[in-house]
Amino acid sequence: MNTPTKYLQQRRILIGITGGIAAYKICELIRRLKEQGAEVKTILTAGGKEFITPLTIRALSGETDVEDAMSHITLARWAEVLLVAPASANFIAKFTHGLADDLLTTTCLATTAPILIAPAMNQQMWQNHATQQNMALLKQRAVTILGPNSGEQACGETGPGRMLEPHDLLQALDTHFAPRLLHNKHVLITAGPTQEAIDPVRYLSNHSSGKMGYALASAALKLGAKVTLISGPTQLSLPATHNLEIVHVKNAAQMLNAVMQHIKAAQPKVDFFVGCAAVADYTPAEARPQKIKKNTATFTLELTRTADILQAVAQLPASLRPFTIGFAAETENLLQNAQQKLHAKCLDMVIANAVDNGKVFGQEENQAWIIRKDLPPVELPIMRKEVLAVRILEDLSCEL
Ligand code: PMT
Repeated sequence: MNTPTKYLQQRRILIGITGGIAAYKICELIRRLKEQGAEVKTILTAGGKEFITPLTIRALSGETDVEDAMSHITLARWAEVLLVAPASANFIAKFTHGLADDLLTTTCLATTAPILIAPAMNQQMWQNHATQQNMALLKQRAVTILGPNSGEQACGETGPGRMLEPHDLLQALDTHFAPRLLHNKHVLITAGPTQEAIDPVRYLSNHSSGKMGYALASAALKLGAKVTLISGPTQLSLPATHNLEIVHVKNAAQMLNAVMQHIKAAQPKVDFFVGCAAVADYTPAEARPQKIKKNTATFTLELTRTADILQAVAQLPASLRPFTIGFAAETENLLQNAQQKLHAKCLDMVIANAVDNGKVFGQEENQAWIIRKDLPPVELPIMRKEVLAVRILEDLSCEL
């Protein structure tokens, strides 16, 4: 839940809390928003008060305003964004039809701020035609719908209708305020390790968790890009959105095929390629069809070189070639080796990170250098991978 955000500092965020068991999760969201430097005000509906108290909310948000006859106008003008979470079926119906019978619905009508809603209700109520038609109307009116998630519900049923988690709401608000630096840009990213089969039960791989590559994909989405993520095997996932395609692959050959296929099929062309995956440099000369038996004291495995995906992309003709960024994972001579990769693979940029002593692989933080042709390397401080990803992409957005 402590994923940092970048764009919430001093933002004025109004949260409407309606009646639903998920209301308690908003306490966590308010805390995180305050930690990130946002200003928060809340409207707790009568239904919301059945689940959490005004005192709890005010203690967390630090609100001191006293509600009066003009609150709906002052709050409507104050808000830079209005998030309704949890948004109950009843609130959604009232909002869709322009009812104004309490502070939240009157504020919804009175504000010109963008409105985001995070529905939360029983799965049958969510799937009911009335709710679905209301949602369709709200989408037409450019209301942003966040979720809902599918899963186990407080009522014991399973299905769609769970409110997004506070972490996802926090990220959605951060995305809302993020500059659209990569709007209309297509970013293709590789992430995670590859697994090279030795036999049906064994493979060669490495320690990449995919965190850095997935952080880059998230950051690119936040900055408005269309993202294709070619992912090796990881434990990670990203919330589905229309701008994101994830392609799962296992080995280096599949990763190469997926990358080339997507670059060649893209219309218009891919703008940026970021090779963050830890791709195997060697693969077993043959994957044995049956499990290898331990009959001998020693065992020799013949390996052959894999194709270099990054280099293959960098050498594409100009009509297809994206601006190409590689990573350099080094255990010694970091800058020297990274510079060498930049030139040998004809790259436009290299992100160099030192991976000795258990650093970087699987960790939440990374410390990197940005290296470009003919420019002195730029050293970045150690930071969370999500923040580093935004920093790298902000840099990239100046390139095209
Ligand atoms: O996934 P995490 O746990 O978050 O860890 C992040 C990371 C350490 C994997 C990441 O920050 C990183 O450094 N990724 C690149 C790892 C790597 O393979 O580095 P390399 O120096 O061996 O390769 C250089 C570049 O060539 C990389 O961009 C790599 O994707 C690319 N390559 C390598 C071999 C190959 N056959 N094809 C390639 O495209």
